Parts: sequence; C-alpha cells; structure tokens
Amino acid sequence: MNTQQLMDTAKALVADDKGLLAMDESNPTCNKRFARLGIPQTEEARRAYRELIVTTPGLGESISGVILYDETIRQKKEDGTPFLKVITDAGIIPGIKVDTGAKALAGHHGEKVTEGLDGLRGRLAEYSQMGARFAKWRAVIAVGDGIPSGGCIEANAHALARYAALCQEAGVVPVVEPEVLMDGEHTLERCREVTEQVLRMGFNQLYTQRVMLEGMILKPNMVLPGLTRAQHEDVNEVADATVRCLLQAVPAAVPGIAFLSGGQPSELASARLNAMNLRFKSRVPWALAFSFARAIQQPALEIWQGQQANVSAAQQALCHRARCNRAARRGEYTPAMELEVGPEQRHAAQASH
Ligand code: 13P
Repeated sequence: MNTQQLMDTAKALVADDKGLLAMDESNPTCNKRFARLGIPQTEEARRAYRELIVTTPGLGESISGVILYDETIRQKKEDGTPFLKVITDAGIIPGIKVDTGAKALAGHHGEKVTEGLDGLRGRLAEYSQMGARFAKWRAVIAVGDGIPSGGCIEANAHALARYAALCQEAGVVPVVEPEVLMDGEHTLERCREVTEQVLRMGFNQLYTQRVMLEGMILKPNMVLPGLTRAQHEDVNEVADATVRCLLQAVPAAVPGIAFLSGGQPSELASARLNAMNLRFKSRVPWALAFSFARAIQQPALEIWQGQQANVSAAQQALCHRARCNRAARRGEYTPAMELEVGPEQRHAAQASH
C-alpha cells in the first residue's frame, strides 16, 4: 500500500472546491432513466450519453473526479478516443463503481446488503492498471417500521470496510457510501438518528479492518426528512442537522465528505450544500463536497432526450449544475446563479428529481 499516494489522491478529489460527478449508473439503472424519457435502452445510447458527459467543455473547472461503471470505463468516443483519455486530458481523475449491487438480506424482510467482495482483489488490479485511482461501493439502508435492523447496518458496514481495505491494498482510494434512503415518511430527526448509527458502525468496522482514514472519502446522505412527508425543513435546518450528525460520527482524519444527492431536486441539493459551507466551513475538520449523480445529470438528460441536436444545450446544463455546486462548496451559491443559463436549462433543473 502506497500511503502517500492514497492520501494525495484523496486530497486531490476534494481540492479547489471541486467535487465528484457520479456517472456510474449500472445498465439497468441507466436504462430505467432512459425509459422514463423515451430514450432507447441500448449500449450505443448509453455510450452516446456518456460521451456527451465526458466531452462537456469546462467540466474540469468544477469536477475533480468522475465515477464510471464497468461498461463505461471500456468505452470510446465515436471517433475512437477512449473515454479514459478524454477524462484524464481534462484534468479529471477517473474512478470506478466496484460493488455488484444491493441484494435482499436473508432473514431481514425489506432490507438489503451490497455484494461484490468475491473476486474484488482481481477486479481492482485490472481497474487500477487501466487508470482508475479511486473506487466506489454503495450500501443502502432503508428507514421504516422496525428498520433498519442492527443486522443490516452491521452487514453493510462490514462489507464496506472489507471493500475499503482491498481498495487501499491496490493503491485505489475508497469512496465509502453508506446511503440512508430518503424514501418514507420518517422525520428529519429519525434520519439523523439512523445516519449517526450507520456512520458510527461504519467507522467502527473501517477501524477494525485497518483502513487508513486519511486515504478515503466518505460519501453519505444529507440528513433529510422522508420524501413523502408533507412538511419540509428549510435549508438551514437541514445543514445544521447534517453537520451536527457528522461531527458526532466522522473522525477528523477523513479528508473529505462528498454527499450523494439521493433524489433531491438539483437546485435544492446545491442550496443545502451551500448552507453547510456557509455556516460551518471554517469550523469542521473535513471538506464538505459533493458526489452527485442525479443532481448534476438529470437536467442535462432531460434536455438531451437522446437527440444529437440537443447535445450542446445538455452540456451547458451539466456544466452549469457542476458550477453551482462548486460555488456551494464556497458558500457562494445563490438562486440568482440559476438565471445565468437559458430558460430550457432552468426549467429542467427545477423539474428534476
Ligand atoms: P445520486 O447523487 O443520484 O444519489 O447518486 C449518487 C450515487 O453515486 C449513487 O450511488
């Protein structure tokens, strides 16, 4: 394990107020998002969409790293240039999703455990040789009547820690993603309680498996009320609850926390990240960054619609969301920034979730 290299990569992923763009949807997830918009669910359509993303002019000004999927890391632009070359030429660090998905956890109705440890050492060696410098593994924790159970939290934390240790052995920075889902009617306080429990167990297992905290990134959910709750807290309440929760559970040795967006509307995700940095940036030990998929991509996907003629407008929307989130890292995001793009992009950002 090259300790210095791991620490340098982890720091670089959250440097200069930039953040990560997750474009690692599995084929079924990507197809589901395409189907909703009437886009063909083919390998070529997925390739064309990912080409749109990686060739977006100016993306590297706000994005430090992109998370790819096994299909995507092997794909090329239409002119034959490998995506990996396009990404590194733009000064962006390539990463890779390495879990193989969340499956039903035996004996735990309604709960899941993420799989993918079998053969992971070999897959990491291949990805690292291809040029991936960081990896991602997502655990999902559902909140509901009587869940999450201790068994589900522990099984997922154990798998995350085993994955993280294997990554570091391969010289790859683990992005550790324990996601407490937004689905449900639970309160903000319940989300805070579950998130804290999940993070405490997570770091317990990371410690047990000898993961070097300086060489990892944490990718948690923000602390939010359930999606189907009528009353929604304002951005400052969300920012306060999230940072208070993280302060209880995340060691100061971790260099960066890069939030997932989890299905929040794009503009709200930016506003909440902004509120956290505005109120707490100078008082917390880690960078508060982003690793969004939907909150960066969704407006662009809705504009693209699978049509070549819409590529440029979609790229502008993508770049705009990335810029808004970089501004949010500085506490400089304002709703007025949303007026800097055309009505088409604005409409898609407001509608996206
Ligand atoms: P969202 O930002 O859409 O939640 O996706 C982040 C991610 O990488 C999910 O694993």
